Amino acid sequence: MQELEQLVSRATAEFSAISDAAQLEQAKALYLGKSGSLTELLKGLGKLPPEERKSVGAAINQGKQAIEAALEERREHIRRAALAAQLQAEALDITLPGRGMGLGGLHPATRTLERIEELFRSIGFEVADGPEIEDDFHNFTALNTPENHPARSMHDTFYLENAPGLLLRTHTSPIQVRYMEEHLARHKGVEPMPPIKVIAPGRVYRVDSDATHSPMFHQVEGLWVGEDVSFANLKGVFTDFLRRFFEREDLKVRFRPSFFPFTEPSAEVDMGCVFCSDGCRVCSHTGWLEIAGCGMVHPNVLKHVGIDSEKYLGFAFGVGPDRLTMLRYGINDLRLFYDGDLRFLSQFK
Ligand code: PHE
Repeated sequence: MQELEQLVSRATAEFSAISDAAQLEQAKALYLGKSGSLTELLKGLGKLPPEERKSVGAAINQGKQAIEAALEERREHIRRAALAAQLQAEALDITLPGRGMGLGGLHPATRTLERIEELFRSIGFEVADGPEIEDDFHNFTALNTPENHPARSMHDTFYLENAPGLLLRTHTSPIQVRYMEEHLARHKGVEPMPPIKVIAPGRVYRVDSDATHSPMFHQVEGLWVGEDVSFANLKGVFTDFLRRFFEREDLKVRFRPSFFPFTEPSAEVDMGCVFCSDGCRVCSHTGWLEIAGCGMVHPNVLKHVGIDSEKYLGFAFGVGPDRLTMLRYGINDLRLFYDGDLRFLSQFK
């Protein structure tokens, strides 16, 4: 019986020195396993005289229970230690301040559009818009663009599949047509027709993509039609707009003869390079930057919508606000506008 007591205290001592679960199970086998010390004791029972068997058997069972209890206690201890270690390792410092949500801001392209709208509103222009999915009539035909004009080719224009005659507008000029149609309907029979003074900002689409061209970009259309609107008015309005936009009274602006089917005469507008005075990479060493197309509204366009081209005259322009944004903020790659990179965008908050 002394042997049994020793066995129990040895097992208890051995277990309590172990702090690894697998090792503990191995130690258990030494006592309670198939050929463990306690199992051997039980096997020896048969050799005892029958009158001793009962009491010795009971004592061995008690010893077995004691070892099992010690084992269970140690298992529990190891489980708790493991949990404590895990909690420690994954500790969260809940006293740290939160990261904060940060305020969003307007996209630089939107800021420019809002600025342009504000400048034109201040001289009495309305702001209109039109559909981005246009029909061939408004995008081309009504704008005096012949069937065989290169802009109609599959290479420049996104046509809609399974929707004959529909396309993504290639410029904001179709809004000229739509706005004149609505204006006429609104002022039916009023003589003389109240003047049309409108700008129309919006997204336009062309098959084109590199550092300075995106398949989707912005334009702002301008249109002023009345009884005595002249090319001089166009020059004055547009030059004044650019000088106010760039906040530079001495900004140089020039009108270069050009061609558009829907204006006659037509011109392209260049402004003096804002980065240099006599030539740099941005202006291809010319000192000038192209930023808009313009001209006097072609009589055929007025006729298409039913305005008497003998009585009324107008000018129109189409300017690229993305270009203006790049120049105003010194951005050298148009693709940055559409990448959605917060490191870029957050500079404009
Ligand atoms: N719509 C022309 C373009 O996209 C620009 C333009 C607008 C020219 C109005 C003249 C008048 O190139």
